[in-house]
Amino acid sequence: MPIRKARLQDAEKVHALVNSLSGDGTLLSRPFAEICENIRDFTVAESSGGEFQGCGALHLYGPHLAEVRSIVVRPEWKGCGRGQDLLQALLEEAEQHGVGCVCLFTRIPEFFQSAGFFVVEDRAALPDKIYKDCQVCPRLYRCDEVAMAHGVLPDVSILGPREPVEQLVRLAT
Ligand SMILES: CC(C)(COP(=O)(O)OP(=O)(O)OC[C@H]1O[C@@H](n2cnc3c(N)ncnc32)[C@H](O)[C@@H]1OP(=O)(O)O)[C@@H](O)C(=O)NCCC(=O)NCCS
Repeated sequence: MPIRKARLQDAEKVHALVNSLSGDGTLLSRPFAEICENIRDFTVAESSGGEFQGCGALHLYGPHLAEVRSIVVRPEWKGCGRGQDLLQALLEEAEQHGVGCVCLFTRIPEFFQSAGFFVVEDRAALPDKIYKDCQVCPRLYRCDEVAMAHGVLPDVSILGPREPVEQLVRLAT
């Protein structure tokens, strides 16, 4: 069954599915404009009949790091292997870009462990993720997600803090 890069025509379905799970914090809420702007990050899964089954995105920070975001399968298609199909496609995409490490934050580490992701105990090892999302996240000091990575953790970062460094140190401890 097809796994393909998303097109702008998919943006409404992607937006509806991602935001259907943002209320309880399962996924980060993403405005429609942001989905459209970043639609090229997304990969979608379709049934053989062309039905939209789910999606996932690969955000590129740089050659050192990418991130799996917004990976979700529609409830009626769960358990059919489409989540792992999407994850494999995103990992292959990272490889095609020559990116050495793919990270993500999740509440379901078991799902990602089976695809070779490992738990990153010290989030400070992923500073670009912290600079991009964590410091503006409402759950900054009560984050219940597990940081994970696939590949070799980067020894460089390219984003800088928007908040005082002390806040980020608090986050990382
Ligand atoms: C997580 C999700 C994408 C998995 O999609 P899926 O198509 O149902 O998963 P698959 O059928 O590919 O499952 C493959 C394996 O992962 C396991 N798995 C699936 N969902 C899981 C979950 N929530 N927690 C732990 N393991 C899970 C399955 O048991 C299966 O293992 P098996 O091969 O040993 O039987 C889907 O459940 C979903 O959309 N969840 C809500 C959104 C979400 O939580 N996204 C992750 C945010 S970081």
